[in-house]
Amino acid sequence: MILVTGATGNAGGALVRTLAEAGEPVRALVRREVELPAELVVGDLNDPESVAGALDGVRGVFLLAGYDRMDETLAAVARAGAGHVVLLSASAAEAADVSNPISAYHVRSEALVRESGVPWTVLRPRTFMSNTLRWAEQLRAGDVVRDAWPDAAVAAVDPLDIAAVAAASLLEKGHDGRVYGLTGPRALRPADRVRILGEVLGRELRFEGLTDDEARAGMVAGGMPEAYAEAFYGFFARGELDESAVLPTVDEVTGRPPRTFEQWARANAGAFG
Ligand SMILES: NC(=O)c1ccc[n+]([C@@H]2O[C@H](COP(=O)([O-])OP(=O)(O)OC[C@H]3O[C@@H](n4cnc5c(N)ncnc54)[C@H](OP(=O)(O)O)[C@@H]3O)[C@@H](O)[C@H]2O)c1
Repeated sequence: MILVTGATGNAGGALVRTLAEAGEPVRALVRREVELPAELVVGDLNDPESVAGALDGVRGVFLLAGYDRMDETLAAVARAGAGHVVLLSASAAEAADVSNPISAYHVRSEALVRESGVPWTVLRPRTFMSNTLRWAEQLRAGDVVRDAWPDAAVAAVDPLDIAAVAAASLLEKGHDGRVYGLTGPRALRPADRVRILGEVLGRELRFEGLTDDEARAGMVAGGMPEAYAEAFYGFFARGELDESAVLPTVDEVTGRPPRTFEQWARANAGAFG
């Protein structure tokens, strides 16, 4: 039995399906009742007691980073004798300056996992391909996508590949103490993704880059805390985080190449209709 947190999200949801397809029993920690191919336990990552209540008979845990009292959550995981924890971290843990709040929560979460005494694997995925779903509303309204950081080329990763590496780390031997940077097969700028998405959807799409200041202001207007918007500005406008390098990890761990953005777009085309 594997406990998956964030099971309604892009990465956790892909992992629930991957494990279920592999025949592994899955328990999902959820904040509300949903349809998933898993046993559901209602709980909250900010409430370690609720996580503790979901650990009976669990041999591995997929854990999201950055929640309150994570030391207590990890102590409960250790007490329950779960054999392995896979932490969903981020490349932000490798940024040139980790004083921003996004890097800080990932660095702290990784340290807590390393200190937990539970065998661990840390995943540091680059930007998820599924962030492209944020364009769906613009594409229902027209053929123009406006988005941030037009010059940032990112080797974005398909959540299915994050799930595949997480599943291997949880189910196979040999992944203890490993830190896996996860990328797709190519670095793409937003305009490249718009072009590929347009080809898949059979539509003439156009990309317009926001200025860096427009991007930061838009994030804050959309409800993001200012310090987080400032962190993204540092990462992608000031270039403090370079996600352009393509890494061999998905191939090395799963034995197959990482999925392309075109494959992601074909699988998710319905979301843009
Ligand atoms: N997106 C990226 O580009 C990227 C890149 C690198 C790393 N990451 C990391 O990956 C994480 C997951 O990304 P994602 O795209 O899969 O996110 P997502 O689709 O927004 O999913 C977030 C998941 O976390 C759950 N959740 C949120 N607060 C919770 C709480 N207090 N207790 C229990 N569950 C809670 C949500 O459940 P509900 O359905 O209840 O809201 C949802 O299942 C991010 O938070 C980030 O740390 C993301």
